[in-house]
Order: sequence, then C-alpha cells, then structure tokens
Amino acid sequence: MTAGTRLTTVQEVYDERSVLFTATNSFDMDEEIIVVPCEDDPTEADAAATDGEQGVTAWINRCTHEAQRFDTGRGVPTRDGEIICPKHGSLFDACSGDCDNGQAAGTTLPDVDVAVEEGEVYLADEEYEFEHLGGIDEGDDGPSATSHVGF
Ligand code: FES
Repeated sequence: MTAGTRLTTVQEVYDERSVLFTATNSFDMDEEIIVVPCEDDPTEADAAATDGEQGVTAWINRCTHEAQRFDTGRGVPTRDGEIICPKHGSLFDACSGDCDNGQAAGTTLPDVDVAVEEGEVYLADEEYEFEHLGGIDEGDDGPSATSHVGF
C-alpha cells in the first residue's frame, strides 16, 4: 500500500509528456511541481523499486538559473528525455534532474518523491502536501471564494 495522494497515472504522464500540480511545502508556501516521464532503461534496482513499471520523476517547476517556470501553462517542453528551459534553453535530464549545458550547467533540479503503484502515480514526499492539479493560479475559484487578502 502506497502512502500519499494519488496524482495521476503513468499513462497520462507519458501521453501528455508532463503533469503539473501544486503542493504546499514545509514552509507553508505553494510550489508548482512537474511530473515527467523518465525513459532511461531501468537499472535492476529501479526495476525492482517500480515493479518493472515505466518510470516517472517529479521536479520543482522552476529552472535553477533564473527561476523560470518550465511549464507555463502549456506543458513542459522536452526533447529526447530532457526538460528544456524555455528562457535560455538549458537541458535537464528528466531522470536525474542534472544539467550539464548552457546557463544552468552544473546544477540539479530539486526533486520531489513520487511513487508508482499499479500504473498510478502518488505524491510520496513528506515535505509536500498536495493542493490541486495545475498551477498555483489554477487553484483559485475567484477572489470572492478563496481570497486570503486582508484589509
Ligand atoms: S532561466 Fe533557465 S537557463 Fe536561464
């Protein structure tokens, strides 16, 4: 039994190429998180950990160079298993989060733990509490219903 909130399915991550959700971090701040396919050949250890299921990984939706969002509302740009930063074009390995090129060279994306069980993807990171699918702004039902602005 997997602890954590169900986010999506592996199939949807592979079909859509990315799934965006919002979670609250341990500082009570909203973070956008992306779930992307990790298509490397699994090592024996990975295969055991995922029961041979296709891999997915999750990362904070923010480039390590200048805090540019990867998914700006139209999915994460990717090519050949790499996440593309839309601002300066650095490429991050979708499996390891590592970047060895461009402005973000030498950095690694902050990761978020997810677990896969029977084709379902769960948030398995105790640092984060699931809020809703989509970006931070997509959680608003309108100012009258959800505004926390005080006067
Ligand atoms: S903001 Fe991503 S490489 Fe510069």
